[in-house]
Amino acid sequence: MLQKFDQRNKDLLVNINGELVHRDKAGVSPFDSAVQGGDAVWEGLRVYNGRIFRLGAHLDRLRSSAKALAFSEIPSHEAITEEIRRTLGANSMRDAVHIRLTLTRGVKLTSGMDPRLNTAGPTLIVLAEHKPPVYDDAVGAEGLTLITSSVRRFPPDCLDPKIHHCNLIQSILAKIEANNAGADDAVMLDTRGFLAETNATHVFIVTNGKVETSRLVACPEGITRETVLGLCEQNAIPSAQRDISMPEVYRADEVFCTGTMGELAWVGKVDGRPIGDARIGPVTTRLRSLFAELTATEGTQVV
Ligand SMILES: Cc1ncc(COP(=O)(O)O)c(C=O)c1O
Repeated sequence: MLQKFDQRNKDLLVNINGELVHRDKAGVSPFDSAVQGGDAVWEGLRVYNGRIFRLGAHLDRLRSSAKALAFSEIPSHEAITEEIRRTLGANSMRDAVHIRLTLTRGVKLTSGMDPRLNTAGPTLIVLAEHKPPVYDDAVGAEGLTLITSSVRRFPPDCLDPKIHHCNLIQSILAKIEANNAGADDAVMLDTRGFLAETNATHVFIVTNGKVETSRLVACPEGITRETVLGLCEQNAIPSAQRDISMPEVYRADEVFCTGTMGELAWVGKVDGRPIGDARIGPVTTRLRSLFAELTATEGTQVV
C-alpha cells in the first residue's frame, strides 16, 4: 500500500501557529521539540461534507496526551477548532479531507531534552490534505495483506499508548518489514505475544458472528475502534475486547482494520493464510455501512 501524490495538494496552505504558509515554505524551527525529540502529540481527523467526525473525542485525546507529557500550555478546543476552520477555508476544502493536527512542546532555548528549555509555548500545526480513505485502492478484490512484525508494541510501563505521541519509529520499523514482505501493513504484538494492532490501525476479528478486538494494553484508544464497538452494541452484534493470539486471527471468518485514515478496511490474508473465504465478509460489510451512515450524518460542522 503506497499512497500517491494528489495534484490537488500541490499548493496547500499549512497552518503553523496561526500562520498560513504554502507547503513548500512551511516549516518549524530546528529548535522545535518535534525536531529535537519527537516531543509532540498528534491527531488524524477526517472531514466529511464540511463536518469533522468525532472532533470532540480527537481534541480530548490530544489534550490528554499533552497533559500526560506535562506540556505547560495546551490550546483550548475552541482555539484549535478555529485554526482548523481557517485552514480548511484558506484551502477551500470541505470533503474527503484528512487533517493531521500536531501539537509540539514548542521551540527550545537551546538543544536539549529538558522541558524547562521550552519557554515559548507550544507549536500547533494544522495540515489538511485532500485524501480519500487510504486503503480504498489497496483493498481491491483481495483485501489487505498483513504480516506479523518482529517489532513489539510497548506495554504501559514502557511507553503508554494512551499517550498519542509523535515517536512513530516503532511503527515505521514494522511498516518496513511489511514493505519488504510485499504486504500492506504489519500486525504488531504486545510483549506477551498477543495481538496489539497494526503499525497504523486497530485490528478486529469476527468469529461465528462475534466481533472481537484486543484490550487496551498495547494499542491507543482508537476513535474508530470505539465507534465500531458502539455500533456493535447499538445493533445487537456481539462484541468483546480480550487478549487474542495469532492462531485466532488466522482461523477467524473475517478480519478488518480500523482508523481515521482508512476507516474500516477488510483483510484478505495474514501471514500467508487466507482469512475466511478470502472475500469481504457480511459483518465487515454491515459495520462499514453502519459506519458510513454515522459519518454521513454526525460530526462538528467546520465549513
Ligand atoms: C498507532 C495507531 N493505531 C491506531 C490508530 C487508529 O485510531 P483512530 O481510529 O483514532 O484513528 C491510530 C491513529 O492515529 C494510531 O496512531
